[in-house]
Amino acid sequence: MRWFQLLLLGSALLLENATALKYEVTGTRKGVPIPKEQIKFAPYQFGRSKNNGPGAVQPAPTKIKKKRANPISSSANWCGAVNHSPTTNKIKSIHSFWQVPGCTKRTGQTYPQAAAVWIGIDGNTWPSALLQSGTVCKIDTSTSATRHEAWWQWVPDTAFTISTMPLAVGDWIEVTINTTSDTAATIKFDNVSQDEQVIVNVTSGPTLARKDADWVVERPYYGSSLAGFPRFDTTWFEDSYATRTTGGNLGILGATQYQIPSLCNSTEYDNANSVSFSL
Ligand SMILES: *[C@@H]1O[C@H](CO)[C@@H](O)[C@H](O)[C@H]1NC(C)=O
Ligand SMILES: *[C@@H]1O[C@H](CO)[C@@H](O)[C@H](O)[C@H]1NC(C)=O
Ligand SMILES: *[C@@H]1O[C@H](CO)[C@@H](O)[C@H](O)[C@H]1NC(C)=O
Ligand SMILES: *[C@@H]1O[C@H](CO)[C@@H](O)[C@H](O)[C@H]1NC(C)=O
Repeated sequence: MRWFQLLLLGSALLLENATALKYEVTGTRKGVPIPKEQIKFAPYQFGRSKNNGPGAVQPAPTKIKKKRANPISSSANWCGAVNHSPTTNKIKSIHSFWQVPGCTKRTGQTYPQAAAVWIGIDGNTWPSALLQSGTVCKIDTSTSATRHEAWWQWVPDTAFTISTMPLAVGDWIEVTINTTSDTAATIKFDNVSQDEQVIVNVTSGPTLARKDADWVVERPYYGSSLAGFPRFDTTWFEDSYATRTTGGNLGILGATQYQIPSLCNSTEYDNANSVSFSL
């Protein structure tokens, strides 16, 4: 799977990689527009600090009806649900809610350690592009400090951290990615707990097929090797759905449930809720 580069990127490399990407950013806080200078992106990297305490235990959603048995597949770094739509009915938008999970170091894993929770379009059966946004916890090698960040990426372009939107364990996050074509989309990242949202309007990005809908907890790459995978609080993806261009929402029913053997399991509950948990 292609995923964002946890590289210590310099801005030169960032610009070089950002070939087709054109975007503008807006935001609101409690319904009031946030001045542009108060919304900042940074290259996605380790290094900034926002220390959070031990993770809060996430309550299971109340909407659970029934555990189902979707097909299971293994991955080296993806854990979660991936569903598909035919190219005759392209995915238009994808949506989910979750709470920022607490993370703790996992012994026997390399450092730094990181676990990213995200939703996205493509990257599975369409590996040349992936539009994704979510949260990530990162445990620093030398200090063991844990940071939680909001981020977005249009692979193969580089990832951005929304550096003016620090997150805390337990925050409710709502992400909506809304495409208007194969190369344009808005990403709405909403801190529901705080009623603060940032909208990235990408008017030119790498071409999507819009056929994979992804709700994922990922063990990301750090440079060219996988980061260590920490333990994380059970993560519920709630109200998970993808809308489609000619109608009929796609849910989690029938999605492939990816597992990272011995590290992470994923289970479907009903057509809108799935769960990923550390092994
Ligand atoms: C998000 O909401 C939580 C409250 O639950 C708050 O602690 C955190 O600072 C908020 N983040 C931003 C950027 O508003
Ligand atoms: C997606 O974008 C379309 C066109 O701009 C808009 O009408 C619609 O409300 C948006 N949907 C969401 C969920 O943001
Ligand atoms: C995104 O930007 C384009 C170009 O400025 C504009 O036409 C479009 O309405 C914007 N979309 C949203 C959802 O703001
Ligand atoms: C979770 O992982 C364990 C150990 O790999 C496996 O035995 C079990 O069947 C998995 N559960 C689910 C729901 O996939």
